[in-house]
Amino acid sequence: MKVDVLLGLQWGDEGKGKIVDVLTPRYDVIARFQGGPNAGHTIEWDGHKVVLHTIPSGVLNPKAINLIGSGVIIDAQILKKEIEKLASFGMEVKSRLRIARKAHLILPTHRLLDATLEKSRGEAKIGSTLKGIGPTYTDKIARQGIRMGDVIQPDFIKRYEHAKNAHIRTISAMGESTASFLLDGISFDEYEKQWLDALKFLSDIEQVDSEYFIHQQLSAGKRVLAEGAQGTLLDVDFGSYPFVTSSNTVTAGVCTGLGIAPSLVGNVFGIVKAYCTRVGSGPFPTELFNETGDTLRRNGNEFGSTTGRPRRCGWLDLAALKYSVMINGVTHIFLTKPDVLSGFDQIAVATSYQRDGASLTELPYDHENLTPVLEWRKGWSEDLTKLLDVDQFPIEFTDYIKFIEDFTCVPVSIVSVGPDREQTIFRDFE
Ligand code: GDP
Ligand code: IMO
Ligand code: MG
Repeated sequence: MKVDVLLGLQWGDEGKGKIVDVLTPRYDVIARFQGGPNAGHTIEWDGHKVVLHTIPSGVLNPKAINLIGSGVIIDAQILKKEIEKLASFGMEVKSRLRIARKAHLILPTHRLLDATLEKSRGEAKIGSTLKGIGPTYTDKIARQGIRMGDVIQPDFIKRYEHAKNAHIRTISAMGESTASFLLDGISFDEYEKQWLDALKFLSDIEQVDSEYFIHQQLSAGKRVLAEGAQGTLLDVDFGSYPFVTSSNTVTAGVCTGLGIAPSLVGNVFGIVKAYCTRVGSGPFPTELFNETGDTLRRNGNEFGSTTGRPRRCGWLDLAALKYSVMINGVTHIFLTKPDVLSGFDQIAVATSYQRDGASLTELPYDHENLTPVLEWRKGWSEDLTKLLDVDQFPIEFTDYIKFIEDFTCVPVSIVSVGPDREQTIFRDFE
């Protein structure tokens, strides 16, 4: 058995959560491999809606085991709230959850550091979700992080205080203090108390070595799906650096985030929104600053699942998509939100860029100052949200899909036509 991978091919929020939920009945284990609660993965079913930040999106299926892998970073307080939220829907989660003991902890002071660093960047800010992502991964790479498995060690509090005090010294050197920022609307001291309580709340969840766990599952013939967070263009190495997140969001991240060899990667499912969105700062070649962009935002309800910020909107960027397909070895594209494009007379897609008089078919070093070369296509007026089969697609939409397939040389195998799990059309996918 191999590990199938599902990840975003744009700047996040492509609809990964919805599709993982749809595919979960085909898998035994769903494993997050990177990122933290900067992610917001939305699942809608029967008029209910839940946004998951840390827990894999397989959790709504009572049969699946959900693993928070060692490449993920965990905010105990946010994870506790997620478990409680799911309990309010009558779902018992803890027994179906596994946490990698090598996963690093986001400390309350990591969040303060994130806020302090963002403030100091001024106009050049990254637009971070302020969940402590950058500082936590920084400590991990600097070999001074604290991991989930450390919580039960006798010297945990000593180590926590040591790390906290080091963070506070940095924060003070930058002219701020623990009193400078509220965390979720409360003071640092109050938040810290809740965070320590949350660690206790999580203590009865089974911890595993995710590398052994995944291999045992595969040997037992279990089917495993790795769920990515963020998107390829936010990858710390291959995204629009420095306007990226602090982890490897690409397929390679599955190997380091779960502990498997590249030869154990199976299918790679790339989630693609039928247009583009980006939340936070950074280059976005096809961004629309006009009424069309506003219409996409309104019709697509493009407001951040984690922060509520309006998402920047623009046309589909096929040149960037080709890059993402290449880096990830995508075997299947799953297309989401084409229903949001209904009603446009004309729809554009970018196929290359212009910069300083030169024509570019590849994303350059900095992704900056690119003028997209747009190809205009006839739109469709039909509402797609009630469609049940590919035969019902308007011809213009079928052509749009074909254009994406021809450009990327990857089949579009699933089409999502609405947020509900039922609004999913399988196209040439067993
Ligand atoms: P993720 O981070 O990739 O899981 O995506 P988000 O949950 O942040 O954002 C995707 C949003 O689009 C959510 O509100 C979903 O409920 C919604 N969504 C997913 N697929 C579709 C679709 O095909 N059509 C529409 N209209 N909404 C969708
Ligand atoms: P999901 O998994 C969209 C963006 C932030 C910011 C940059 C760095 O829901 O697709 P960070 O908090 O990581 O330091 O922020 O990355 N970002 C996301 N944008 N979807 C996400 O996750 C994101 N996670 C981080 O807006 O621009
Ligand atoms: Mg999201």
